[in-house]
Amino acid sequence: MQVIIFDDAQQVADNAAQWVAELITKKTNPVLGLATGSTPISLYQQLVLKYQAGEISFKNTTSFNLDEYLGIDEDNSQSYRHFMNENLFNHVDINKAKTFLPTCSQGENPREQGLRYEEMINNAGGIDLQILGIGANGHIGFNEPTSSLASRTRIKTLTQQTLSDNSRLFSPDEFQPTLAMTMGIATILDARYVLLMATGENKAKAVKDMVTGALSAVCPASALQMHENAIVVLDKAAASQLD
Ligand code: F6R
Repeated sequence: MQVIIFDDAQQVADNAAQWVAELITKKTNPVLGLATGSTPISLYQQLVLKYQAGEISFKNTTSFNLDEYLGIDEDNSQSYRHFMNENLFNHVDINKAKTFLPTCSQGENPREQGLRYEEMINNAGGIDLQILGIGANGHIGFNEPTSSLASRTRIKTLTQQTLSDNSRLFSPDEFQPTLAMTMGIATILDARYVLLMATGENKAKAVKDMVTGALSAVCPASALQMHENAIVVLDKAAASQLD
């Protein structure tokens, strides 16, 4: 695991944007794994700026998001599809037909949908670079603590901590989903490169457990210790509990 510590969150985003830019410039048909949440927003802003400056193009890029809520449709402003459109897809030249999220609508079989998502990733040639954030409880994607390290795309119930961490994004009268479809830990580990971004002091404990703790399903992000190309980019606050 390569751990790089920057002074602030902006430098973390700049560095992450360079990794993405390099991949999509050098590879003919790049496949990106994408994340939502607060952390990658500044990465997506940097990518939009690079696109506007003519430095990069997403024309040949395929993308697979880590997760999507269950029980809300993609037009809902809380859906991760909406998040991706607003923060990245609407502002660059990516072909939206080649952008995928793990959805499972009412009436669809979750197991089949999970298998189908895995198959789609494989058919696209596998993920070249997976962007990740980390939950304060060490989750990656919505693989909450004790998720199997061998897990594949499936439905997960969000923990109370994740629900309360994310409640800031929902107004009091808004429905907050408690279920999500998420890539599994094994799905994430299949990516050729994994780039985890973490900023802010509230991530310091999870970062410490991921980097220096035991490899354990109790901290799902610790699974990255097994990945040969895992890059962790942190600001000083997120790195503050590392020795
Ligand atoms: C998002 C995702 C989550 C977030 C994590 C951190 O697609 O899968 O694992 O990366 O919850 O979220 P933020 O960045 O909002 O702190």
